[in-house]
Amino acid sequence: MRTILIASPKGGCGKTTVATNLAAFYATAGKETALIDCDRQGSSLHWAEKRAALASPVLGMQGRVGPKVTAKLPEGTKRCVIDSAAGIRIGEVAELIEAADALVIPVLPSVIDLEASEAFFAELAELPAIKRRKFPVAIIANRTKPWTNATQMAIARLKEGPFPLVAELRDSQGYVLLAGIGKSLFDYHSEQTRSHQDDWAPLLKWLKKLD
Ligand SMILES: Nc1ncnc2c1ncn2[C@@H]1O[C@H](COP(=O)(O)OP(=O)(O)O)[C@@H](O)[C@H]1O
Ligand SMILES: [Mg+2]
Repeated sequence: MRTILIASPKGGCGKTTVATNLAAFYATAGKETALIDCDRQGSSLHWAEKRAALASPVLGMQGRVGPKVTAKLPEGTKRCVIDSAAGIRIGEVAELIEAADALVIPVLPSVIDLEASEAFFAELAELPAIKRRKFPVAIIANRTKPWTNATQMAIARLKEGPFPLVAELRDSQGYVLLAGIGKSLFDYHSEQTRSHQDDWAPLLKWLKKLD
């Protein structure tokens, strides 16, 4: 089993969007997938409930932040995605990392988000688990508008950071609409959807290296 933690102390940066789409990607690829929601708002859990009747369901579970977060997963689970809440403290991230194989951090292209994220990166880089195990951490720029100065500046700044900028997910209403019906980008094959799936390719390749 591989476990991918999605975390950031910032709200609204796309943790649930990344967690649900990633879980759906694995489920549509035929892997038994669980999505553990550590946010009391339960957005990922609700999404998984809406998905239950589809051909590629994802097992949604409420989780408590801690090193044993994956303890109750059914046998045979191949992929586990952990969605976490805004305001998460560095000590809690350290506990979740104990249970995970990689950490993915979405960041919005705005100075407010960049500043908050950079403070988080600095704390993360000091965690013994990350220093010692060279624990894989990927940054994703989310809701990018590639033609804007704000996005271009954010991308340049993230590239200077301590962790690799692995993917850039463009802003799209598709994410908003699909989240509401328990679906994901990976459930569709139109030309437009494919172009947004391409945004994910470098992240999926990076995660594949963990196998
Ligand atoms: N790439 C994107 N394009 C457009 N809307 C997005 C994108 N990513 C997230 N959103 C929207 O932004 C809002 C916050 O995203 P969400 O995933 O809930 O963030 P978080 O879980 O970090 O609070 C939601 O309404 C979501 O649909
Ligand atoms: Mg969320």
